[in-house]
Amino acid sequence: MDIILGSDHGGFDLKEACKSHLETLQIYRVKDIGVFSLDSSDYPEVAHRVARAIAGGEYACGILVCGTGLGMSIVANRYKGVRAALCHNLYTARMSRLHNDANILVMGGRVIGAGLALEMVDIFLTVPFEGGRHIKRINQIDSEAYFGGKKLTAG
Ligand code: RB5
Repeated sequence: MDIILGSDHGGFDLKEACKSHLETLQIYRVKDIGVFSLDSSDYPEVAHRVARAIAGGEYACGILVCGTGLGMSIVANRYKGVRAALCHNLYTARMSRLHNDANILVMGGRVIGAGLALEMVDIFLTVPFEGGRHIKRINQIDSEAYFGGKKLTAG
């Protein structure tokens, strides 16, 4: 499986840790689009590039890291077909796959430690989407029926 990774300076150290971890496993082909130093950088540029690669089908999954994970997830989720999940623990990483079929794992490099993050990466990359009742909900995310304003009922 090919995985695309990106971070800003706030997520640089954790992104590097994820990259080393994935390369050590020798199961995945890893594409690191940067940044490549701790110099101050803008997270939207990186998030746009990763999200575009996922939305366009170039990569099936990605990992984005900034200081909090917030900026990266806000940008990435603007792309149709992208389900970027900002996760802080093993439970949210697992549920992001089981229920949300997330295709980008987003983490905060200033929020969680590398030990936890690498376990989250392993979960994210191995837990399958549960399907079933969640398929309908996944399809509703980008549904024109909602964006066109025609369908806004609860339940
Ligand atoms: C950079 O200082 C910081 O704002 C960024 O890494 C991220 O946390 C934004 O959401």
